[in-house]
Order: sequence, then C-alpha cells, then structure tokens
Amino acid sequence: MVEFISHSPTETESLGERFGRAAKPGWVIALSGDLGAGKTQFVRGLARGLGITTRVHSPTFTLVNEYGGGRLKLFHLDLYRLETVEQVWSAGVEEYLSPAGLAVIEWMERIADCRLPIADLKSVRIDIVSEMERKIIYDDLGA
Ligand SMILES: Nc1ncnc2c1ncn2[C@@H]1O[C@H](COP(=O)(O)OP(=O)(O)OP(=O)(O)O)[C@@H](O)[C@H]1O
Ligand SMILES: [Mg+2]
Repeated sequence: MVEFISHSPTETESLGERFGRAAKPGWVIALSGDLGAGKTQFVRGLARGLGITTRVHSPTFTLVNEYGGGRLKLFHLDLYRLETVEQVWSAGVEEYLSPAGLAVIEWMERIADCRLPIADLKSVRIDIVSEMERKIIYDDLGA
C-alpha cells in the first residue's frame, strides 16, 4: 500500500499520469472516493499518461467510455447503475475484467458478490482531507 498527498487538481492529474505511463495491458484499477474527491481528475491524468489526447468525461449515461489513440486503450467504467447480479452479467462487464488495455472501474463494489475473475487488480482510493487536499491510497491487489 502506498499513500500520496495531493494539494491540487493538477497534482492529482499528474499522479494519474504517472500511473498511465506505468500501466501494463490487462490492468484493472478499481477507483473509489466520495463525490468530488477527484476521480475524474485522476482518470484524465491516466489518459494523458497513455498518450490519449481526447478529453475524458465520466461515463454517466453509459456503462463504459472507451478511449483509443494512446499506447493502450483506456476503458472507463461506472458500475453505479448495476443493481443485480443479472444486470452485471448482461451488461458485459466481464470482458473489462481482463481488458485489452487498461480498465478503470468506479463502483467496483457493485460486483463484489459476483465472483468474477479479475486478471490484475489495483485499487486507488481518493479521500478528501480538506478543500484542496486529497489522500490517494494505492494498493496492488494482484490476481
Ligand atoms: N487535490 C485535488 N485533487 C483533485 N481534485 C481537487 C483537488 N482539490 C480540489 N479539487 C476539486 O475537486 C473536484 C474533483 O472533481 P472530480 O469530478 O474529479 O471528482 P469525482 O470524484 O469524479 O466526483 P464525482 O463522484 O461527482 O464524479 C474538482 O472540482 C477539483 O477542482
Ligand atoms: Mg467523476
């Protein structure tokens, strides 16, 4: 487990960028944090670190946003709206758990009960410390 302190949105994005540069094909990053913690900011950095130039937006109305044009494809998922195991399966979440690229998944806890195999799992949690300060906790959860 590694902890980082971020003092600005730019710093959070830069940290994401470092992760993007280090990312290997098949990585799944479970991303969590309260409303306004900086999750989208972090994913913008991830995209930049992969060399993706498209602006990242949260997948609010879709399950997944897919970004190409970089070193690896980036899949940004939000599982918030999935409520039952059936919905998880029929939504096709499974293919993103051994992604052909890098998957970053918000609300991973939605599939905690589904016993889905995950190839290479990392976790990033962003905690709000104060208005501008964030604690970012990284954990490599392995296979
Ligand atoms: N150190 C920091 N890191 C990241 N964001 C910060 C920081 N300090 C302040 N902010 C502000 O917090 C907000 C983070 O917004 P962002 O959309 O990234 O959060 P989110 O976790 O994706 O929220 P949501 O759950 O609503 O999607 C922005 O308004 C940003 O300017
Ligand atoms: Mg967001």
